[in-house]
Amino acid sequence: MTNYDAGDVLTVHGGTPLNGELRVRGAKNLVSKAMVAALLGETPSRLYDVPAIRDVEVVTGLLELHGVKVTNPSDGEFVFDTSDVESANVDEINVHAGSSRIPILFCGPLLHRLGHAFIPDLGGCNIGGRPIDFHIQALREFGAVVDKSEKGMDITAPDGLKGAKLELPYPSVGATEQILLTAVRAEGVTELRNAAVEPEIIDLICVLQKMGAIIKVHTDRVIEIVGVPRLVGYSHRPVPDRIEAASWAAAALATRGDVFVKGARQVDMMTFLNLYTTVGGAFEIDDTPGEGGIRFWHPGGELKAVAMETDVHPGFMTDWQQPMVVALTQARGLSIVHETVYERRLGYTAALNQMGATIQTYRECLGGTPCRFGRRNFMHSAVIAGPSKLHAADLVIPDLRAGFSHLIAALAAEGTSRVYGVKLIQRGYEDFEGKLNALGAHVELG
Ligand code: EPU
Repeated sequence: MTNYDAGDVLTVHGGTPLNGELRVRGAKNLVSKAMVAALLGETPSRLYDVPAIRDVEVVTGLLELHGVKVTNPSDGEFVFDTSDVESANVDEINVHAGSSRIPILFCGPLLHRLGHAFIPDLGGCNIGGRPIDFHIQALREFGAVVDKSEKGMDITAPDGLKGAKLELPYPSVGATEQILLTAVRAEGVTELRNAAVEPEIIDLICVLQKMGAIIKVHTDRVIEIVGVPRLVGYSHRPVPDRIEAASWAAAALATRGDVFVKGARQVDMMTFLNLYTTVGGAFEIDDTPGEGGIRFWHPGGELKAVAMETDVHPGFMTDWQQPMVVALTQARGLSIVHETVYERRLGYTAALNQMGATIQTYRECLGGTPCRFGRRNFMHSAVIAGPSKLHAADLVIPDLRAGFSHLIAALAAEGTSRVYGVKLIQRGYEDFEGKLNALGAHVELG
């Protein structure tokens, strides 16, 4: 483990319950998209409650390269002035290649503003193949010409962008956002079938509506967008980060703690709360305006094993899976997890086994309904036998959510663990080290 600098290694003295309060801000998976949407507005946009995370830095860098003036007048408040949008230098854009999935969403806004777009090769977590075929297919149906170049993708729209009738093979979050960000200013009407309808997508639709877009969300995952010739800036307070909230909830359960997550909202987390209760966790909603949140705690006694599967909204989020599995290592009996969104999102369980957990992964679809990954060579189901006494280990973080799960496991384990690669966690969790200290965890960098 010699390749990590001191700021990238967290020493965790585990075995202490997390107790206290923290606050979650705007959802990473909305904030970054709302920042891209600002490009579509002819007047400045203002976004509040923006967390200080690496993904926000990456998108800020990309916006600035395209001439957007980004200012941060107060804590969490960002203003995007788009009066001088311009083409960026390909090599400069490529500095951001591999660091995030967001650049792909610049296509529509840049095509509308500049007539062309260059998109670097994408990054993000290594949790599956993560193809972008739905994005490319949709852009082509709008009339875009997409050419693969050595460094990324060159996209033009010689005849402009026109509304289209589209149907996604799977309700992809990113492809739905791509289509929304492109259709709002395309000529004519776009009809999208089998759209993703996650709360972050509905919030992006709210942002776009504030900008002047006309978007109708029908039943059965159908979204209709009536293109308009111009959009203005927005002022928006994002939905809270329900992934971060659930991560802390799982940490409270796994460490037998008691954590109040200020800013968490029941409406975004109903599916999570159902599972949390079934496992034996306790929660209490405080809906005082501006002050509210959800208290999550371990009520004592034993946790119960469950069978669960991840799914698109309103199902159990794939991003909730990894933190909850750590809590399930403490439940009595056999729990079953079927991951149906990403084909390779269970690799992190090997590290939990190294710490004393008993988790077996399977290629078959266990429990629930068969999914796209059944009968293919993907270990996408798991059986967790518990409860297991976790012990400390040296851990290397593989991706964002798995990384936070490693951290939870280290906090729940007896002894001192060293967690390598914690900078990856900063992509999506604001000041997690400060929050851990405030919750009474014994952690230090280096
Ligand atoms: N897919 C394709 N082709 C495409 C696009 C997607 O086959 O062109 C497949 C993917 O391979 C995957 C499934 O569709 O199997 C779902 O992918 P989706 O497009 O919905 O995911 P995404 O937009 O890349 C976002 C979040 C993820 C979150 C998923 C699912 C962002 C930046 N990322 O990813 O969040 O897990 O939706 O809710 O919004 C995270 O925050 O750690 C994270 C990974």
